[in-house]
Amino acid sequence: MEKLLINLEKNSYEIYIEEGTVSQLSNYIGRPQETVLITDENVEKLYGKSLNALLKGRKIHRIVLPPGESTKTLGMAEKILVDMLEYGLTRNSLVIALGGGVVGDIAGFCASIYMRGIPYIQVPTTLLAQVDSSVGGKTGVNMPGGKNTVGSFYQPLSVVIDTGVLKTLPKRELINGIGEVIKYGIIYDDDFLTYIDENFDDILGLEEKVIKKVIKRCCDIKASIVAKDEKEQGIRKILNFGHTIGHALETLGNYEKYTHGEAVLIGMYYEALMAKKIGLIDDFYFQKITKVIKKTDVSLNMKKFTIKDLVYAMEKDKKNKEDKISFIFPVGGGKAEEKLLSREDFHILYQIIGGGDKNEHSQ
Ligand SMILES: NC(=O)c1ccc[n+]([C@@H]2O[C@H](COP(=O)([O-])OP(=O)(O)OC[C@H]3O[C@@H](n4cnc5c(N)ncnc54)[C@H](O)[C@@H]3O)[C@@H](O)[C@H]2O)c1
Ligand SMILES: [Zn+2]
Repeated sequence: MEKLLINLEKNSYEIYIEEGTVSQLSNYIGRPQETVLITDENVEKLYGKSLNALLKGRKIHRIVLPPGESTKTLGMAEKILVDMLEYGLTRNSLVIALGGGVVGDIAGFCASIYMRGIPYIQVPTTLLAQVDSSVGGKTGVNMPGGKNTVGSFYQPLSVVIDTGVLKTLPKRELINGIGEVIKYGIIYDDDFLTYIDENFDDILGLEEKVIKKVIKRCCDIKASIVAKDEKEQGIRKILNFGHTIGHALETLGNYEKYTHGEAVLIGMYYEALMAKKIGLIDDFYFQKITKVIKKTDVSLNMKKFTIKDLVYAMEKDKKNKEDKISFIFPVGGGKAEEKLLSREDFHILYQIIGGGDKNEHSQ
């Protein structure tokens, strides 16, 4: 059993990483008065039965949501809150979020506002949720005007990771998570980036030792960043590398064309190319980054979107300041920095995406 502490003073909590923790969930939840388990239909189908046997004798209510991003709405949060009220949950109750980032975000959000906050446990079942969304306490839902626009910072009681449940994930969902895994190497730990490169096939093949090590390192990195800057006033922003272009692509693709991780992989590629153009990284480091990104086989061709579309979508980014667009750029050696680009600086993007550098981005 791997154990990690997220050090946030009175909001500190532990992350447990081991194969088989879902079927031993009762060991991690104590004896709360009332418990509600929130999950989605796919996860319920795959793991519901094993939980039935296990949670027998406990008073556990279940809320099973339709799978997918369209579930993350205020309307759905209201339905969950109404159910929680009907089940008689109090501040001594517990919410268990069993699922991917969608379930984790909406269940955590409901836990954060129900009676001004009740405890919840994250049990992430996708790679993306295990290495990213379940750690750090960002919760929320989408609004018609934008993704994750309503939410809270609300830390869970613990995070229970079962590496075994990843075996039922489709390959596309694994790549979705690997996008964030690669990001951690680039922004925080160059040796880890080398490790990802050298062990890429074993990560994708879910080789037990390798995947456990990777998940632990990702949680560790996220934990140290969040411990320094819980509310994203400074260093936490580096977690957004690849996300300025990535989020714009997700918006332009109506959240259907790309998974989050695919959009981030493409975003990281082009943002690294921008960093090279600006002179923040040399070609050697650029090649190191892009070699790993290309191993995912995600198509890097963005030609279908014009630069105008992209800039329009990026102007809506929550991190923008003073009319400038916030980018996180790699600066080499496993480090990244925020730079604010104004409209005049976009010639770099024009050069890259508008056809100026064909050799480097044609695949
Ligand atoms: N809170 C944060 O810090 C944070 C960070 C990154 C992303 N997010 C959010 O996370 C969400 C994306 O999360 P996601 O990629 O996990 O998507 P998801 O929750 O939609 O899960 C992807 C798909 O995998 C299925 N699934 C889940 N576990 C499975 C398993 N073990 N086996 C087979 N299928 C399984 C789900 O039913 C779903 O169809 C987005 O809404 C994003 O905004 C939040
Ligand atoms: Zn992300």
